[in-house]
Amino acid sequence: MQSELRRAPVPTPRNGPVSRTRLPVPLLRTGKVRDVYDLGDALLMVATDRVSAFDVVLPQPVPRKGEVLTLLSAWWFERTRDVVPNHMLSVDPEEIARRYPALAATRDVWARRAMLVRKLDPFPVECVVRGYLSGSAWKEYARTGTLAGEPLPPGIFECAQLEPPVFSPATKAEEGHDENITFSRMAEIVGTATAEALRDASLRLYRHGLETAARSGIIIADTKFEFGQDEAGDIRVIDEVFTPDSSRFWPAEAHRPGGPQPSYDKQPVRDYLESLVQQGAWDRQPPGPDLPERVVQATTERYERVFQRLTGMPLAEYPLQRETLS
Ligand SMILES: Nc1ncnc2c1ncn2[C@@H]1O[C@H](COP(=O)(O)OP(=O)(O)O)[C@@H](O)[C@H]1O
Ligand SMILES: [Mg+2]
Repeated sequence: MQSELRRAPVPTPRNGPVSRTRLPVPLLRTGKVRDVYDLGDALLMVATDRVSAFDVVLPQPVPRKGEVLTLLSAWWFERTRDVVPNHMLSVDPEEIARRYPALAATRDVWARRAMLVRKLDPFPVECVVRGYLSGSAWKEYARTGTLAGEPLPPGIFECAQLEPPVFSPATKAEEGHDENITFSRMAEIVGTATAEALRDASLRLYRHGLETAARSGIIIADTKFEFGQDEAGDIRVIDEVFTPDSSRFWPAEAHRPGGPQPSYDKQPVRDYLESLVQQGAWDRQPPGPDLPERVVQATTERYERVFQRLTGMPLAEYPLQRETLS
């Protein structure tokens, strides 16, 4: 019996869904999705399974969502670090627990959903790049013929490709909706040289992501980056990159400009909430309504599917040790 057990393959730790964490280290901030802990010389960013839609965090967690966000970001950070440097130090639980022994006892809560990152000074802007005309950009264009305040040629269809991609920054709102701003407004906030550097870095990253995802049959229609600065003044990408929470992912085979596209993200949650709004059962104000089990499950499946489609491997097989950068 004993030897049978020893020969069995090591199972991937399968933690239950996590809505919030309380690790025995100082909590720096709680975002919509992440709990961020201050480890002194670094931060631990723990992606929970919280899901938000229409800027409201919903009561039910989506199992494995946090793990997908963290490990998909890790996968991209590794592939884009020569394009633009980033904040990632490690996603290896072994190494994180060794460096910060205070975290060892709670490892089951944070392993696979936590990323050890450099502590940086975030710029107060969201750097959005759009390669396709969708969402709030489509609304602006349909109304005024502009995007981020700049004119675009007439006659572009909803969700059609924009070539070249357009940089359309937004302010980082603590509460509620981010507000789209013009490039010159951004330059007033962060300075012209920094605004130009962030725009160039965003466009370089986006082109790289677009080409990489295209090989998996996925269109990254648009995406949002955040950047921070280290003590030397160097710019690094922070937060998350090319995840279903920060990007619109469309299956390329289904792309039909002229209307909205099916997307690989929390679409099941949005569709369900829309149906409640239609029936007059929810007014889009917090608290968010309970999600039926089938909606939660469909959402988990989407996150897992996009992970596998992009990386070519199932979530459980992600090699955590490879990401150690220092
Ligand atoms: N390397 C970093 N240094 C400092 N702050 C960071 C770093 N990476 C991410 N952050 C910040 O941590 C928070 C992550 O939590 P998240 O749930 O994504 O927040 P939000 O609701 O603002 O999207 C964000 O406010 C982000 O700006
Ligand atoms: Mg965020």
